[in-house]
Amino acid sequence: MKSLTSKRIVLAVSGSIAAYKAPDIVRRLQDLGAEVRVILTTGGSKFITEMSLQAISKNKVHDNLWDKDAELSMGHIELAKWADAILIAPASANTIANIASGKANDLLTSVILASDCPIILAPAMNQKMYSSIALKDNLSVLHNRNMNVISPDYGDQACGDVGEGRLPEPVNIATKVSELFKNTRLTGKKVLITIGATIEEIDPVRFLSNRSSGKMGMALANTCIEYGADVTIVYGNISTQLNDRCNNISVTSAEQMYKAVMKNIDHQDVFISCAAVCDYKIKDVSKDKIKRSGSNMFLELVPNKDILFDVCKLNSKPVTIGFSAETQNLTKNAKNKLINKGCDAIILNDVSRADIGFNSDDNEVVFLTSNQSIKIEKNSKQKVGKKIIEILCNKLL
Ligand SMILES: Cc1cc2nc3c(=O)[nH]c(=O)nc-3n(C[C@H](O)[C@H](O)[C@H](O)COP(=O)(O)O)c2cc1C
Repeated sequence: MKSLTSKRIVLAVSGSIAAYKAPDIVRRLQDLGAEVRVILTTGGSKFITEMSLQAISKNKVHDNLWDKDAELSMGHIELAKWADAILIAPASANTIANIASGKANDLLTSVILASDCPIILAPAMNQKMYSSIALKDNLSVLHNRNMNVISPDYGDQACGDVGEGRLPEPVNIATKVSELFKNTRLTGKKVLITIGATIEEIDPVRFLSNRSSGKMGMALANTCIEYGADVTIVYGNISTQLNDRCNNISVTSAEQMYKAVMKNIDHQDVFISCAAVCDYKIKDVSKDKIKRSGSNMFLELVPNKDILFDVCKLNSKPVTIGFSAETQNLTKNAKNKLINKGCDAIILNDVSRADIGFNSDDNEVVFLTSNQSIKIEKNSKQKVGKKIIEILCNKLL
């Protein structure tokens, strides 16, 4: 997998003579697998056309904070949220000063203030401008705000001077951007995660299910995406948002979930069974709505196939993690599950507590393997998910 696969990069092009290199920067980012959207400042538009950048990036160029159409779908906040990283290349002395002073008087500076992703700048200007105290002071402000600065190259300049201030080669800029993203043991790995509750029909209007929301599984998926994995989600009934960078497969019943997992399990490196799969289904689902009769009624249940067990039996079994939702004899039950299913780890979840587990935003779990037990203290599901994936990377991959 390429180092920027599925990464979303906003390239901001400001008013430097080196802006003519911007289309090449777009191409080099795309070569590494990134999707690129361009912001063009007013200064930048004096040196390079919107048309070239639009054609190369295959996306509309954003050049106006006051664009009514853009505000409907992709305003400055949307663009800030969309980006995994913002690259300003070339970064003019003026743009650097505006960002350092916290201005928000154009699209680029507003996006910068509204973003929380990594920001990387490639200053490009005349060597005297680059060595000026004002520019150095502004760069040190940006450095203290954890922004990354790519040092310009030394050499011949458009104005005839020789010195430091040339924009580095686009391929080197693209490489620097890719270095912002962690190369983890999950980079390029394929991960399949089941999430949410399955639904077992009783009749056309009633069903058996459980309280699983899918929040824990999505927290795991989001971290896997962040760590560069190629993630497939098989989801049942959920009350959380999916990540559009996963391959998302919708199912309803345990039987459908079983089929979807088995269809997609080949070549997976990791399988995480986080869904709350109904252990039983109704033997004879009624075609018509069952009517009240006044007397007791009995539903005959039959066991569903065991997804986790059957994945663990596969010849080319991926690293497999199960979840054990328990209300009593927590550790004993979870350890039994670890052994009986044959998986590599079990995440023990106490679902008797109202403050964690099912449908809660927080969780507290124990990561159990055959020889280790690691407690992950109560925290948001996002943070607990991150810890689980870090332990997976360190202990099992
Ligand atoms: C021909 C010409 C070349 C310029 N080259 C640069 C440059 O390489 N770097 C720079 O910081 N400013 C350069 N400037 C000045 C900027 O274009 C100017 O400060 C502009 O306001 C920057 O706008 P922006 O920061 O909004 O993009 C140049 C100006 C002109 C007229």
